[in-house]
Amino acid sequence: MKTPHNIYIHVPFCAAKCRYCAFFSHACPAPDWDTYTHGIIAEIEHFARILGRITIPTVFFGGGTPSLMPAKNFAQIMDAVRKNFDIDANAEITIEANPGTIDDKKLGEFCALGVNRLSVGAQSFDDEKLKFLGRIHTARDALSLIESGVRRGIRVSADFIYGLPGESVDDVIKICNTINNIGIKHCSLYELTIEPNTPFGKMNLNMPNNDTMAEMYIAIGDNLKLPRYEVSNYAVPGYECRHNQNVWDGAPYIGIGDGAAGRVLLDGTWYEELGAHKMFQPLSNNARAIERVITGMRTMRGVRVDDETKKILNIEFAKSHPDMIMFSGNRIIATNAGILVLDDLIEKLVK
Ligand SMILES: C[S@@+](CC[C@H](N)C(=O)[O-])C[C@H]1O[C@@H](n2cnc3c(N)ncnc32)[C@H](O)[C@@H]1O
Ligand code: SF4
Repeated sequence: MKTPHNIYIHVPFCAAKCRYCAFFSHACPAPDWDTYTHGIIAEIEHFARILGRITIPTVFFGGGTPSLMPAKNFAQIMDAVRKNFDIDANAEITIEANPGTIDDKKLGEFCALGVNRLSVGAQSFDDEKLKFLGRIHTARDALSLIESGVRRGIRVSADFIYGLPGESVDDVIKICNTINNIGIKHCSLYELTIEPNTPFGKMNLNMPNNDTMAEMYIAIGDNLKLPRYEVSNYAVPGYECRHNQNVWDGAPYIGIGDGAAGRVLLDGTWYEELGAHKMFQPLSNNARAIERVITGMRTMRGVRVDDETKKILNIEFAKSHPDMIMFSGNRIIATNAGILVLDDLIEKLVK
């Protein structure tokens, strides 16, 4: 059987650029959607020629701001995916949405085209903070989009950013309590990262120090009712993002669109997708195993110790640091203490 591949489709446009964001996206309120859509469809056909009629367990429209896309273009892209591949009957189809760009009616159009998971960029429950972040919506807009998704019976997640200048551990606990009260089954909580070449990067902001950030992170684990399943992701068990889980677990995925990365498996060889026009570059088994360790160790499932990862893992190091790394069946998993120093830990764990 041909290997199933997950699909990530990148939409590199935003209504306006947020002041913290270094993602590959440009502020473009009226993109040329038809040209963009043709490019995406051409890429889908290109992958179908290479990989054949493979099965697709998940499709993830990420950005940028995919919710900006007119439903007509979204329909054309989904048609092309269906024509060229076999989408699993129970596939997860996610769209990321900025609440300032979509209302209940438009969400209904996306749902009618197959979307069954909505990831809302809520970021904060405080309108002043939303303004400071450069968001184009209010907290009320985000809540009503979350409610629309829940009412429509699809899976809903929301993104939040914590650790803003002046924020305290108590502020973060308040965010957790509000999320608990709303009762969503999935959310992502990201520590604000100051990226160079963003407005925030040039502002010399007075950020919480590293100890406070670590306390905030621990407070999230203690106060949010949703269990953590990846460094920044929390869900009721069974409601995890399947697309991301598959990718973090080392499953192959096709990246479509200029800003999209991909890892394709063809006739037993892994390929990295390079650049806009999808040049493929073979990846050595060792390089692929290292990637699996890096993404897998960020998850609470950890990484499978198999023939490939065994070659690059320093198992002696893992065994001698039970405070940081635990063994569960054939997997190694970072402990709560390990997660706090993950980058360092992974560096030591890989030979
Ligand atoms: C592609 S965006 C999500 C969809 C949509 N673009 C939006 O913002 O509403 C992915 C998420 O990354 C997070 N993010 C982006 N830049 C960040 C930064 N510098 N620090 C922390 N989180 C960040 C935000 O929470 C954002 O929702
Ligand atoms: S956070 Fe989302 S909406 Fe804001 S600029 Fe980045 S990708 Fe665009």
